[in-house]
Amino acid sequence: MSSIKHLFEPRSIAVVGASKDPKKIGYKVVSNLLASGYQGTVYPINPSGGDVLGLKAYASIEDINDAIDVVCTTIPAKFVFDSVKACADRGVKYNLIITSGFSEVGNTEEEQRIADYGLSHGMRIVGPNIFGVYSAESAMDATFGPGGILPGSVAIVTQSGALGLAMIGKTKVENIGLSTIVSVGNKCDVDEADLLGYLTSQKRTKVILMYIEGIKNGPRFIEAVKQATRKKPVVVIKSGRSERGAVAAASHTGSLAGSDEIVDAILKQCGVLRAESIQDAFNWAKYLANSPPPTSDQAVIITNGGGIGVMATDACEQYQIDLYDDGKVLKKLFEPVTPSFGSTKNPIDITGGAAGAEYDAALSVSLSHKAIGASIALYCETATFLAADLERVLENTYRNYMEKGKPILFATVGGEDIENAIVKLNRKNVPVFGDVYEAVSCLGKLYWYHRYLKYHDEKYEETKIDIKPITAICEGAIAQDRYFLLANEAQQVMACAGIPVPQSAVAHNIPEAVDRADTIGYPVVMKVVSKDIIHKSDAGGVALNLENKEEVIDAYQAIMQNCKAYNPEATIEGVEIAEMLKRDVETIIGARRDATFGPIIMFGLGGIYVEVMKDVAFRALPLSRREIMSMIKQTRSYPLLLGVRGEEQKDMESVISCIIKLGSLLQRCPLISDIEINPLMVYEQGLGAKAVDVRILLSKDERRSS
Ligand code: COA
Repeated sequence: MSSIKHLFEPRSIAVVGASKDPKKIGYKVVSNLLASGYQGTVYPINPSGGDVLGLKAYASIEDINDAIDVVCTTIPAKFVFDSVKACADRGVKYNLIITSGFSEVGNTEEEQRIADYGLSHGMRIVGPNIFGVYSAESAMDATFGPGGILPGSVAIVTQSGALGLAMIGKTKVENIGLSTIVSVGNKCDVDEADLLGYLTSQKRTKVILMYIEGIKNGPRFIEAVKQATRKKPVVVIKSGRSERGAVAAASHTGSLAGSDEIVDAILKQCGVLRAESIQDAFNWAKYLANSPPPTSDQAVIITNGGGIGVMATDACEQYQIDLYDDGKVLKKLFEPVTPSFGSTKNPIDITGGAAGAEYDAALSVSLSHKAIGASIALYCETATFLAADLERVLENTYRNYMEKGKPILFATVGGEDIENAIVKLNRKNVPVFGDVYEAVSCLGKLYWYHRYLKYHDEKYEETKIDIKPITAICEGAIAQDRYFLLANEAQQVMACAGIPVPQSAVAHNIPEAVDRADTIGYPVVMKVVSKDIIHKSDAGGVALNLENKEEVIDAYQAIMQNCKAYNPEATIEGVEIAEMLKRDVETIIGARRDATFGPIIMFGLGGIYVEVMKDVAFRALPLSRREIMSMIKQTRSYPLLLGVRGEEQKDMESVISCIIKLGSLLQRCPLISDIEINPLMVYEQGLGAKAVDVRILLSKDERRSS
């Protein structure tokens, strides 16, 4: 297969459907290629020959006596297959199919035919249904966009063509330079994962911004995006909620997993900055592309107004920015540059009288102090500090900070002069915002990303599990056309995976019942075992908290009598005697194969209110220990595991171990599609945890082989 480099740095491009007609897409692509200064050779292809924009047009690809790296296809859908065939046969490496009218309108077969032909003949396909590709590396604008793209360091990969074209315009207004913009459209072949591979290693690209509607191959995407975030920030706008994920599965793990929650959790787990709006995505991408990492974990706010300072403090909390709060140090540092009626507590209030010199002095102090990792400077318009001075001071301060490698950003609020200053400063790439939250969110994302880089861990936790006996149990059920395991089968699977379950045994008569109860130890629980009695309690088939031999004998007799009266036809196999568990913190652990992302795991507050409380967190497998802990800590109920109101801390190690074992079980046993333990009763430290109720569902479809 061709290296992806050929797509971004082609030596030659042919435009199939190049036209003399300025209204046609085939004209616009040629004109953009010429205007962008593409240095390779452009070959227009048009059956009528002649010339297009001064370039000789060839009647067909076969007539070109040169190797063609990229073809841009701009002819109607019904002609595309034949053209693709001719290009692939001619050794073309990449074909950008701009044409619409394929899977997006249900014409899936034709799209597949094109993809298959290309792939089997060594030609990769981008699209169809795209606007093309721009690459600063080769000054190539092979799109039918508005042209005039600013070269720079942000790469955009977009699934939506229209939005992508609009983004090109917006990048110009926002002064964001692009290293590339690629439209992936229907993704019949090349997808985000392929592009991430190239963009991750490309020096020019400092930040990757993606607009994604649907992910086709989740595990491949996860791997590619994890590799990318290790090297550079990735900002994702993910819209559209997958229907597949929303189909309620027959387990809590399925029904609690709103697909968007899973997407959100997995993107975070991969180190992605997820943006809800295009504006946020652009702000973050631009800021992160230009800013050095924070030099310490804590930031300062410098302001000329109390109100805006409080707003910024709130925003810092929302975006998880720690504010430097050593009062003594702050006083020592900032007292010389703050009026006596100001405040040296962070936010540092240099008061409404502050002009350029005062800002400069305060911001120089925070620039030179080691414990301060970044500065946020706020300015409310006053009569003492004019917009023209503001522009100069902000620009100089910004340059000083960049020279010394410390992040800074500014938020200013005021009238027309201030708004104009913001526009002018933004053109010079000085990060100034008209809104405090917008500004703080950028710094918050910078901190978040660098914390991710510092702390994320790729040492994945797994345990060895002998899956032979587990497979045999599953196959036994499938042989009976049953795609779930019975309670006792599920317990056996847990035992094979090393997950502790309550002790239990089946008795077929009174002496056996007494013997089993003596072995397990009192108190015990007794439950009728009969496939004909589903609602055991309704049938009087359950007895709880039996303290001694006599109570076991009475209960056995009562259960038999009740059940026979309830359903005289029922076959009663015996009575299960089980350990009566003490109650403690009830958690839930689920593991399932997500239709998009593959194996995922859920942890949360368990018990009967799980659907109401919805206090759960998700992650994609495999998981590092750190990630397991972050999943546990993410739940609101986490303090229950730490122990509340004088309770001892709970056995966290057992919870972690059960999560690892459940994850390994799902990953190793393809016959299992869902496993859920609810509750996993968690006891005090050292006393372990027990899987009280276990549900296991089996795969019915092809996923069994995955
Ligand atoms: N090889 C080379 N050129 C060919 C050809 C072939 N096999 N078949 C036709 N052509 C020429 C035509 O003669 C025409 O040239 P001309 O202007 O000199 O006559 C040119 O290719 C274009 O063909 P035409 O039939 O005029 O199509 P069009 O330009 O109206 O539309 C598309 C073609 C691809 C633009 C249109 O089918 C389409 O898909 N539009 C939507 C694109 C889109 O929105 N994509 C997603 C963006 S996000």
